[in-house]
Amino acid sequence: MQIHTSIAAVRAARAQAGRVAFVPTMGNLHDGHICLVYAARKHANVDTVIASIFVNRLQFGQGEDFDKYPRTFEADCEKLAAAGVGHLFAPDEAEMYPQPQRYHVTPDPEQASILEGAFRPGHFRGVATVVLKLFNIVQPDVALFGKKDYQQFIVLKNMASELALPIEVLALDTVRAADGLALSSRNGYLLATERAEAPRLYQQLSVVAEAVRNGERDFTRPCAAALAELERHGWKPDYLTVRRRADLQVPRETGEPLVVLAAARLGTTRLIDNIEI
Ligand code: PAF
Repeated sequence: MQIHTSIAAVRAARAQAGRVAFVPTMGNLHDGHICLVYAARKHANVDTVIASIFVNRLQFGQGEDFDKYPRTFEADCEKLAAAGVGHLFAPDEAEMYPQPQRYHVTPDPEQASILEGAFRPGHFRGVATVVLKLFNIVQPDVALFGKKDYQQFIVLKNMASELALPIEVLALDTVRAADGLALSSRNGYLLATERAEAPRLYQQLSVVAEAVRNGERDFTRPCAAALAELERHGWKPDYLTVRRRADLQVPRETGEPLVVLAAARLGTTRLIDNIEI
């Protein structure tokens, strides 16, 4: 695996790389990321997988964990190389943001100011801006993201579509620990007792998903019960709600593909998860 820290170097590598699948990350890689790399390699006609590691300041709000976000570059490189990544783009901040970024991608507030966006103002603007910049640098044919960040995927897919980017944006199923907890870099913040409690988020999402699959049409009922159950076990939920998969709006008609999404704080760690129904 070749490591490039400059835009010019990764562009030169990309020019020789044929059909490229791209896996953008912020590092601290777990099996979820590595599954994206394997899926990228298997994707039709892909010649080269390019990954990136960049902890993007623009998508962290004030008081969020930008400074303490885990940085594990050596271990990440070993995992990516072993998984078959051809090129890694790992710029520093001066390379990505040589001056404070003045031009941004502002996603549709209907999709970006709800759910995560309501609790993390500006988050998706930061994500969309860095991902468009990474897309412009790497010029991939396909880009892969995890469904754990469901809203991020919807925002990026719509960005690519509405800005006519010649890039197929794909999402892969969330990878989970044996007890159901969605893999996430932020799981590392959990204390041992919190880690034991953490699977309850997925369990409660599963209860809601099951109720809806069994015909419950008043989604507020199972969601309220799940929220109460989380609170009873010391969680501080931000939201737990059933939405339309396509645009994350409140469902209006029966038969629309749905997803149940939640974010909740356990101690000082904020976890998100979702299940497609
Ligand atoms: O999902 C992530 O790790 C980040 O939001 C991304 C897509 C790499 C942009 O910084």
